[in-house]
Amino acid sequence: MKKNLRYFERTIPVQRQELGALGQLGGRILARDLWENVAGMRKEKELLERRLVLPLAEADLADEYGVVPPRAVVLFGPPGTGKTTFAKAIASRLEWPFVEVFPSRLASDPKGLAGALRETFLEIAELEHCVVFIDEVEEIASQRSGEPPSPLQGVTNELLKIIPAFREQPGRLLVCATNFIRALDSAFLRHGRFDYVIPIGLPDRQAREAMWQRFIPATVVDDVDVELLVERTEGFSPADIEYAARSASQRALEKAVYDDGGAASGGNVPVREAVRKGPCTEDYLDAIGDTRTTVSQEVHEQFLEDIDALGRV
Ligand SMILES: Nc1ncnc2c1ncn2[C@@H]1O[C@H](COP(=O)(O)OP(=O)(O)OP(=O)(O)O)[C@@H](O)[C@H]1O
Ligand SMILES: [Mg+2]
Repeated sequence: MKKNLRYFERTIPVQRQELGALGQLGGRILARDLWENVAGMRKEKELLERRLVLPLAEADLADEYGVVPPRAVVLFGPPGTGKTTFAKAIASRLEWPFVEVFPSRLASDPKGLAGALRETFLEIAELEHCVVFIDEVEEIASQRSGEPPSPLQGVTNELLKIIPAFREQPGRLLVCATNFIRALDSAFLRHGRFDYVIPIGLPDRQAREAMWQRFIPATVVDDVDVELLVERTEGFSPADIEYAARSASQRALEKAVYDDGGAASGGNVPVREAVRKGPCTEDYLDAIGDTRTTVSQEVHEQFLEDIDALGRV
């Protein structure tokens, strides 16, 4: 035993013989705490926990109840709402490897995008467990129309063929994300291909509060009027809130070091002796005022329509 030294061991559910395939696919085991680190979003988390995590993590129990575990889901919603974050969090929660498929990278493959996609999924089939993530899936599964047919139609067709084979193997989940769900091919979304089509929307009050609590340094959070920030960030996405929080911190740091007229401004006093206050409510409000929200009212309204028309939970 050594003082202040701890030994941790973590077993990960990956077999030795899978490591080759996993490496080839650029797959990895994610940190364990990603699920807990998703701040707020209680409704979405609860839904994902019940519909996805429960039957996948408790496969035997699910089987006793006649529940067929989900194999493929679509997450949709405006930019920056946490779709990618959730996909990773699900993998982390299940402790399954996370494999992201990048259609844009596969496109340069000599076999062509469709061929490369087929090959990638054959490699994925060698893994015992995994969460497969395809971001911006509308790029390869958009509405098949037009004369002459777009070269991507072959790719969409390939993906439509890949999914049933993928569904036959247990221990895996395909997560596709899009912020333009109405552009997806209707055959792509039909029942039997995707178990759920889940909206991930803008954070409500509670979620914004949880995010602010997360992003404001613990040393100052008690002095900041979080309620006010929550109110002023209605319509902000998690990405917008994160950006506003970071710029408030940066400004406050610069202000403390360079313009406070205090110890540090003389230039020859070490920075760490500068007045240590941390960002205050004003800094946050200023940063919020200067942050342009990503999701316009119009996009938000379209999203609500999409939930009605295409959502399936
Ligand atoms: N619930 C949350 N708690 C804390 N941070 C979050 C949360 N959701 C998202 N974020 C942060 O917001 C940023 C955007 O999230 P993410 O990339 O998951 O959004 P997205 O929906 O995938 O966006 P896009 O549609 O542009 O791909 C990330 O930096 C992420 O860490
Ligand atoms: Mg994303």
